[in-house]
Amino acid sequence: MDHFALRGGVMHAEDVPLPVIAQEVGTPVYVYSRATLERHARVFRDALAPLGDVHLAFAVKSNPNLAVLKVMQREGYGADVVSGGELMRALAAGMAPADIVFSGVGKTRAELLLGLEKRIGQFNIESREEGRELAELAAEMGVEAQATLRINPDVDAGTHEKISTGRAENKFGIPLVHAREAFAELAGLEGLNLRGVAVHIGSQLLDLSPLEAAFEKVGALVANLREAGHNVTHVDLGGGLGVPYKAGENPPSPAEYGAMVARVTKGWGVHLTFEPGRVIAGNAGVLLTRVVRVKRGGNGPPFVIVDAAMNDLARPALYGAWHDFEAVEPSGERMTANIVGPICETGDTFARDRECDALQSGELAVFRTAGAYGATMASSYNSRGFVAEVMVDGSQWAVVADRIAPETISDAERVPEWLE
Ligand code: LLP
Repeated sequence: MDHFALRGGVMHAEDVPLPVIAQEVGTPVYVYSRATLERHARVFRDALAPLGDVHLAFAVKSNPNLAVLKVMQREGYGADVVSGGELMRALAAGMAPADIVFSGVGKTRAELLLGLEKRIGQFNIESREEGRELAELAAEMGVEAQATLRINPDVDAGTHEKISTGRAENKFGIPLVHAREAFAELAGLEGLNLRGVAVHIGSQLLDLSPLEAAFEKVGALVANLREAGHNVTHVDLGGGLGVPYKAGENPPSPAEYGAMVARVTKGWGVHLTFEPGRVIAGNAGVLLTRVVRVKRGGNGPPFVIVDAAMNDLARPALYGAWHDFEAVEPSGERMTANIVGPICETGDTFARDRECDALQSGELAVFRTAGAYGATMASSYNSRGFVAEVMVDGSQWAVVADRIAPETISDAERVPEWLE
């Protein structure tokens, strides 16, 4: 459920007609709905209520906009961060350091130090090497880092190859076969309170069974570690729940996910953390774009050329991802089109042979389900600027990220003297 809908023939975000935003901010522009974010935050929380006191850490990578983080903070969420930059954003949004979890396979020394200095709540350690480095830094500072060991359960998440993280050949986590040995070593280090295990097998999961298989393995490991005398109090079950991008896609509901987790983790006696991203932010955003022109195709359908491109929304080019494409003021007529951006490569294609609302030059349209992994993956390829972002709240709205002009980007560049 989201708050983008036609009213009087015009698509609105909550109570704001999208043409108003296009008129005042220009296009392309991401538009987020606060009510949708809040609704998803609450649905996810309610779904986990049977588990008692859990920690919810919004995956900042899915949408790091400060206003979005502020909404999540007000909903009582902490943050799952994967870089110093995300860590600083979470703090800037008012999240308590104790509510921040630091994931990622390549945390640098500087990032580990930053996490320690800020006294974040948990480091998810992805290798023995990282664990040793963290312990050493913490011991030098005279503090104790709270940590879990991220394991790689060797489970196929059944999602796109580029967003699968839990197979043995993926770079993430410590293989289960090495987990006990690694845990024993790291648990003995001064500076580290290794208190549990973390897992995350991938994103946009449309089936619960790989998650369940991974969680079963985590449960067995927890029992194993306890038998070996370790004190295991925390388990982080990551994110990954999918969202519907197109008609007929039926991801498990948060309630079904919660019920599965409750069943599998029964009796574990640990404090659970979750790192949802897409399931909260995905349907809470659209990318609003204007048709530049419609061009006749060669031997296929016409090209609808929009002013958004792969640099603004990379998912179709990167993963072949589907985003519904809808007219902001649909006439009722339909067409079949190739929907493309202006960038000079064929990869800049949002959809091929897509049946969609009939559109003409100058008209507005949206790519749906663009609230997660949208603006955050933007680039300035082809010397296009960085796309603007807007948040709507009922009938009010605000620009929550300025468009960054190509000139601002080139201002950061220099031609050295010896080249003048
Ligand atoms: N926790 C960890 C450790 C992660 O790596 C991720 C996502 C999440 C949580 C959040 O997962 P979610 O609930 O959003 O599925 N750019 C790709 C998605 C990459 C996901 C990376 N990790 C896309 O556009 O589909």
